[in-house]
Amino acid sequence: MRLAKYLAQAGLASRRHAEELIIAGRIKINGVIVREVVTLVDPMTDQVEVDNRLVVAEPHFYALLNKPAGYISTVQDPQGRPTVVELTADLPVRMHPVGRLDYDTEGLLLLTNDGEFTNLVTHPRYRVDKRYLVQVQGYITDAESSHLSRGVVLEDGLTAPAVVRIKERNSTSTTLEVSIHEGRKRQVKRMCAAVGHPVVRLRRIGLGFLDLGGLEVGQYRLLSQDEVERLKREILGRPG
Ligand code: URA
Repeated sequence: MRLAKYLAQAGLASRRHAEELIIAGRIKINGVIVREVVTLVDPMTDQVEVDNRLVVAEPHFYALLNKPAGYISTVQDPQGRPTVVELTADLPVRMHPVGRLDYDTEGLLLLTNDGEFTNLVTHPRYRVDKRYLVQVQGYITDAESSHLSRGVVLEDGLTAPAVVRIKERNSTSTTLEVSIHEGRKRQVKRMCAAVGHPVVRLRRIGLGFLDLGGLEVGQYRLLSQDEVERLKREILGRPG
């Protein structure tokens, strides 16, 4: 098995992060530093160390968090801002977020210590539905709403078709439900700004078949094994 895959499966963040650890010379196999990302490892016989600590396979946890605004979706923040992993700190393993929500975005965010699961859910090839409740400035017309759903041109290209439903609108503000399967940086905010309606509040309410349910802001619940399997099946059944 490739070393990066092994490290990801063992819960050491994503495969990409594992490759960075290898290149940085922080991984030893049987006492010898390896720096080649293509290195193979035999999980049954090889002893793998990260920063001189033996890697021991740990059980996988999958948390569904209702992220509050004001938390950054990384494991650490150089600026010292609160991170989403602090909200699952009572779990006995090191969790990492599955994809990102912006600092000021709220709502459904998965965290896990299973790097393979993270790769699957965040890979652009697998088109996982992400549903957002979006409050924007001003009154969005039907024409603007259908523009959003057909796709808008952003600096990184045309967005894929989205499902857009207007929930409420008046002269100063509109609330929309927007469902997309791409995961570009700040995508919903940029889409709405592109049709002239800056986002005031953004909340992710669903991912695949999962939704927030009655989960309070700042709280998480663990996914059941059935939910994890169902999500994987849903994702693998829908390649891009
Ligand atoms: N789109 C955004 O603009 N921000 C997010 O956090 C998620 C989707």
